Amino acid sequence: MATINGGLPKQNGGDPSKLHSNADLSPQSVTDHVHAVNAASDERTKFLFTKLVDHLHDFVRETKLTTDEWMSTIKFLTETGKISTGVRQEFILLSDILGVSVLVDAINYPTPPGATEAALLGPFYTEDAYQLQKGDSIASEGKGDYLFVEGRVLDTQGKPIVGAVIDAWETDGTGLYDNQYVDRERPECRGKFLSTEDGSYAFGAVIPVSYPIPNDGPAVRILNALGRHPYRPAHLHVMIQAPGYEKLVTQLYFKGDPYLMSDVVFGVRTSLIVDPEKVKDEALTVSRGFKNGSKGHAYVKHDFVLATVEEAKEARKDAVVSDISKLKIGN
Ligand SMILES: [Fe+2]
Repeated sequence: MATINGGLPKQNGGDPSKLHSNADLSPQSVTDHVHAVNAASDERTKFLFTKLVDHLHDFVRETKLTTDEWMSTIKFLTETGKISTGVRQEFILLSDILGVSVLVDAINYPTPPGATEAALLGPFYTEDAYQLQKGDSIASEGKGDYLFVEGRVLDTQGKPIVGAVIDAWETDGTGLYDNQYVDRERPECRGKFLSTEDGSYAFGAVIPVSYPIPNDGPAVRILNALGRHPYRPAHLHVMIQAPGYEKLVTQLYFKGDPYLMSDVVFGVRTSLIVDPEKVKDEALTVSRGFKNGSKGHAYVKHDFVLATVEEAKEARKDAVVSDISKLKIGN
């Protein structure tokens, strides 16, 4: 086929018998016409765009979208693009607050039976966390109230996984990650550990604090319009990797947090909510590596269960293939 514009075909590849006369297009016929013009040879592309056009057109018809509303949507998306940079992704934030990120994750990463549930990675992970020894603290003195976390890394049969890399990161006591400080000199409130012979791990930290999503961009305007608060409940991020096992990216949440049921990005899972014990024992606080024993500390014991690569693959196959196969391509 002759092409123009560096490879674009001169004619549409769709079925001409299904095309309406252009003068004929109505709110009812335009959807069929767009489908007839589209002629992707890749089945997945065809399926995605058929559904996208169907849902977009239905949305416009059902809401009787006004021209002003459509233009303000275009303006909003333009602003979302303009504020996004290499280190700030407002579209991801938009996806998060509309529940799309958590939905895509749930479909693509179903939890294999018996394994720890996954949660969003979030935008504050960095790769430069120091490798620390079992029991060390990921937070320097003065970064917040003491927290000690320990437990085991296990497989779905309950056997310990030795040598798993546990990467933990969190906000300090003011609700900020280290990479939100312009004068960051080194990793803070983050660290890496290896599970030991019995699969156990332990580290000191600070009690993380709930924080709002960035309030200077378009995404937060959606929240304002919808009467929603911008907060995530306090959480401790954990990523665990071990050879032969599916990488686990998850978060621990804390019982009693006021935002557990209304997390702005919908990340909370009840299986990931821990109930920290308040430890007032001065000697125990010092023995766990904290400088000021009189302050006491919060204590969390939590085991993480990793699925093997095969178990994860199996769970994904069941969830995705069976769901997609129920959907018909076309209209
Ligand atoms: Fe976070």
